[in-house]
Amino acid sequence: MRWDSLWINGHAATMSPAGVVRDAAVAVVGGCIAWIGPRAEMPPGTAAEEHDLDGRWLTPGLIDAHTHLVFGGNRAAEFEMRLEGASYEEIARAGGGIVSTVTATRAADAETLAALAAPRLERLLAEGVTVVEVKSGYGLDLASERAMLRAARLLGERHPVTVRTTGLAAHALPPEFAGRADAYIDLVCDEILPVLAAEGLVDAVDAFCERIAFTPEQTARVFDAARRLGLPMKLHADQLSDGGGAALAARYGGLSADHLEHTSEDGVRAMAAAGTVAMLLPGAFYLLRETKLPPVELFRRHGVPMAVATDCNPGTSPAVSLLLMLNMACTLFRLTPAEALAGVTRHAAQALGMQATHGSLEVGKAADFAAWDIGRPAELCYWLGLNPCALVVRAGRVVRGG
Ligand code: NIG
Ligand code: FE
Repeated sequence: MRWDSLWINGHAATMSPAGVVRDAAVAVVGGCIAWIGPRAEMPPGTAAEEHDLDGRWLTPGLIDAHTHLVFGGNRAAEFEMRLEGASYEEIARAGGGIVSTVTATRAADAETLAALAAPRLERLLAEGVTVVEVKSGYGLDLASERAMLRAARLLGERHPVTVRTTGLAAHALPPEFAGRADAYIDLVCDEILPVLAAEGLVDAVDAFCERIAFTPEQTARVFDAARRLGLPMKLHADQLSDGGGAALAARYGGLSADHLEHTSEDGVRAMAAAGTVAMLLPGAFYLLRETKLPPVELFRRHGVPMAVATDCNPGTSPAVSLLLMLNMACTLFRLTPAEALAGVTRHAAQALGMQATHGSLEVGKAADFAAWDIGRPAELCYWLGLNPCALVVRAGRVVRGG
């Protein structure tokens, strides 16, 4: 065999059915994994480049599958208000919240938005992230939603990361549509999503189904539009109340339902039947000082795959560390470290519809991986603010460390 590169002398947490492979070897050809397994069983071959991992641990490149990374301004003032007693919902109803970020985002063009997001993205990438999902949803008109999604595409061109975009035009009611939510949903379905889809700017469609955002009926209309456009769906569901969002996402075969603190067992059952991933977002739970936990035990019992993401956004989760979310998923939501790691690899890939090519170290998948200075995989969930990432490889190329 002739390989482009060979990685030896490390241990692999493959996140595939092969589990942990000690003293592993990984061979790469054309940006994909050509062989992986115990070094002792490696077929004979030569590699153009050989890399010694020095006893480090390899994981698949991490996947942050729910972010609002692109936005203008920030909401530190609102954070202060909340500390003085105002609730997220009260601030939203008083015209703050998401709408205040909309004002700052509309004032920026795609280049500016990409420049503002770049340092946030770099923090994620420094922790071994190789795939990131980026939502629109702070533009809320065609031009500004387009600028956000273009900024996301620019980030994917300029940084060593695979960017998946999600059209979240149904995130909040723009002020110019006050009292006319159905008319705004018409605009989203008839113009914003079709145009952005035709321009190749959206890989999936999301909505915020909540009493401060859109009703299940309005959300269903957005999903019908997504279906007509052939786009997969995800949903901000049951975050602040049980609005039946998880079941709605499942009914449309959604890739994921996200947040889910208030999801009922019926919702969990529907997700299990549809294969919809439960996207857990401990950063928002933490920052909003929520007390209602997502039904993790029900997800386990019904076999719903759980993913974990930063939900990086200026309002409820100004988080730029996926490793910190691993810790919070374990500490706050009681995931095991193995579940949390699956949540940012295998199940995160599934939440983006990328499980055929990403999310585990397996032959034929992308050679996206990170090498860590740790003694066991659980250490990735353990530290608060320590980044043991030593090396990042994307599509077979070293993009960090090495
Ligand atoms: O995922 N829940 C709705 N959307 C975001 C928050 C957006 C904002 O407050 O700016 C979330 O938590
Ligand atoms: Fe979100």
